[in-house]
Amino acid sequence: MQTLAHHLLDVMVNSLEAGATEIDVTIRESIEKNVFRFLVEDDGCGMDKKLVKMAAEKGITTKVGKDRGWGLYLLKTMTEECEGTFQLSSHAGKSTRMEWTVKHDSDKRKPLGDISGVIADFIYAHKDIDVRFTYATEEATFSFFLPAMSYMYDLEKFESSSDLKRLKRVLEKNLVRINYNKAV
Ligand SMILES: Nc1ncnc2c1ncn2[C@@H]1O[C@H](COP(=O)(O)OP(=O)(O)O)[C@@H](O)[C@H]1O
Ligand SMILES: [Mg+2]
Repeated sequence: MQTLAHHLLDVMVNSLEAGATEIDVTIRESIEKNVFRFLVEDDGCGMDKKLVKMAAEKGITTKVGKDRGWGLYLLKTMTEECEGTFQLSSHAGKSTRMEWTVKHDSDKRKPLGDISGVIADFIYAHKDIDVRFTYATEEATFSFFLPAMSYMYDLEKFESSSDLKRLKRVLEKNLVRINYNKAV
């Protein structure tokens, strides 16, 4: 995975595959604290205690198909390379919480990537899932929740590719407004 946004998408797809109806994504960026912090919470099927302990090990999966069981392993390894942290907690049958950090100025840190694109594409492709998205910098916080904001951005129908483009623009504009992804 080439960017932090790719890793985020991979974790959101796990939530989707866990049958989540709600996914909360929070990104906190602090130059002062030298950190990018990602938090993804979902109300999917969750994991039992045994699986929580093993889920980020190489090749561990409960899914069928080839090349499974890499996502969390690669994420955890990536955070270790960037002197970050990786925490996973879950209630079987209820919810999962995944939080990871990377050092902002680490030489090994991947670029942030296209966060607006990942969030907009996911919302567009999975309209039955409620995605709450928050991005906080030291200057301000931007939160987005389509059901509550569709009127504001003329996205009530949200059907065409031009609607998707508009959503991407809305997200990107607001992230730029709060001065995200600031170079040190
Ligand atoms: N949000 C989640 N909810 C429930 N289980 C999860 C979640 N994320 C990961 N898992 C469990 O951890 C396993 C490993 O995840 P991952 O490393 O992404 O590999 P894969 O998705 O290919 O199985 C999954 O197969 C699943 O059992
Ligand atoms: Mg996965």
